Amino acid sequence: MEAIIRDFVYIQDIAQYVGKKVTFQGWVQNRRDSKGIVFIILRDGTGFLQSVVLQETVGDQNFDDAKRVGLESSIRLTGTVRIDEKQIGGYELEVSEFNIISQSLEEYPIGKKEHGVDFLMDRRHLWLRSKRQWAIMRIRNTVIFGIHTYFQEKGFMQMDAPIFTGNACEGTSNLFETNFFDETAYLSQSGQLYGEAMAMAMGKIYTFGPTFRAEKSRTRRHLSEFWMIEPEMAFYDLDMTMDVIEEVLKFVIQKVLDNCPAELAVLERDPEMLKNALQSFPRIPYTEAVQYIKGLKDLDGRNAIKLMEDDLATVNQTIEELTADIARREEEISKPGLKAGVINFNKEKIRAAKEQLSDLEEQARNIPQWIKSAVNFEDGNDFGGSDETVLTRLFTTPIMVYNWPKLVKAFYMKEDPNDLGFVRGVDVLAPEGYGEIVGGGQRETDIQTLIDAINHHELPMEAFEWYLDLRRFGSVPHSGFGIGLERIICYICKLPNVREAIPFPRMVGRILP
Ligand code: 4AD
Ligand code: MG
Repeated sequence: MEAIIRDFVYIQDIAQYVGKKVTFQGWVQNRRDSKGIVFIILRDGTGFLQSVVLQETVGDQNFDDAKRVGLESSIRLTGTVRIDEKQIGGYELEVSEFNIISQSLEEYPIGKKEHGVDFLMDRRHLWLRSKRQWAIMRIRNTVIFGIHTYFQEKGFMQMDAPIFTGNACEGTSNLFETNFFDETAYLSQSGQLYGEAMAMAMGKIYTFGPTFRAEKSRTRRHLSEFWMIEPEMAFYDLDMTMDVIEEVLKFVIQKVLDNCPAELAVLERDPEMLKNALQSFPRIPYTEAVQYIKGLKDLDGRNAIKLMEDDLATVNQTIEELTADIARREEEISKPGLKAGVINFNKEKIRAAKEQLSDLEEQARNIPQWIKSAVNFEDGNDFGGSDETVLTRLFTTPIMVYNWPKLVKAFYMKEDPNDLGFVRGVDVLAPEGYGEIVGGGQRETDIQTLIDAINHHELPMEAFEWYLDLRRFGSVPHSGFGIGLERIICYICKLPNVREAIPFPRMVGRILP
């Protein structure tokens, strides 16, 4: 059955073929049968299509094939397209020819029952075929295309920074060191320093490439290898940069809202929550943000610490209700003489409740610690993930926190002449617990200040000589930022963990598949 045919069509184009007889090729996502009829959900990467195989239409041979075809086998279906509102996508295929291209050799390992994330990640190469991952990857594609569209339309030029680098950009603690023809090299932590050189050559540029950080801890937000978009603009200051950040994020979110409603629905992501991000982003100086985090200042009569305490009360209340519900259902199904349907119905409810319960219990453990560390936050420190969660609890849009203490930020940041000790840097923090999605700011232009900063950070001066040339020859005010691709996907899709936002995540303990 491996013969190649040219005249097949894609599910995404199905509207053109209503009433016509066409051929689709893809994989068996689901199959169920009863007497004389088999229902198959075909997926071809562009969509999902309910296909009906009737014995009396396709004949015995075809029908037997349809009955024995295993999940994720590859198949070719020819049939007539019908409109059927009840089906996914709104169409149905009345199959007239059923062919197996390649029958799955074994039972497909990912079943309908719940699997843990580690089980699924070990089978990431297959898990990508699931509807949920399909939706995430399609949104990822829309985000990437949206980013390119925005910058290209605004006259930015895309240029690529090297991946093997001789210098650190974002501190030395998380560098991946590698041997480069007997010289020490690092996998790029950020394309920024090269971006600055390219901006001095081309005006406005952006890089779009993989970046590497040896993060030893496993968190919901960190990958060892992630994709970053780094625009760099000559003659821009921090305020102009914040305008660009806000505009590009809104542009991308609007693209997802316009182009991916079905994908958001698969992910159960409420588009209304995302629409919040189309409002203007509050811009808050670091020192004010600290007041909110510590609960010392209210915003429109709301207090971040109080909101977290209320959340905790709600979580505990829900835990009680769920626990009671589980107990009630367990007693119910222990009674003799129940129908299998009733037992299964309750078992499914119990399973779902237990899953929700384990999430809530985690929150019930975390929130008190978050509150404690927020209240005790020491002015002058960098924000931890939980501080970001507490702060953003006050908002429904992303926020921009700017003017950070010089000591917690990278060597290249420009000190604010009107606010000594603070640098013109900005972090964009997403709401709903997502935290930092973008980091950037205005760059130091004074060569002596930079030399002092490089020394202060104990970075090897020789590796930065080329960078200092950018200040020797026609130095201009300039700024830029880095968007963490997987971080914004995580927020847009409301994923519990950043590892689902990239096809093959790399993190501690995860090099395969
Ligand atoms: O804030 P960061 O470290 O900034 C820079 O690298 C600057 N050089 C960017 C610039 O101004 N050109 O990283 C930028 C963004 C973060 O806001 C976050 O979204 C993402 O990159 N990021 C990560 N994403 C996933 N896993 C990690 N380990 C990440 N570290 C940073
Ligand atoms: Mg940062």
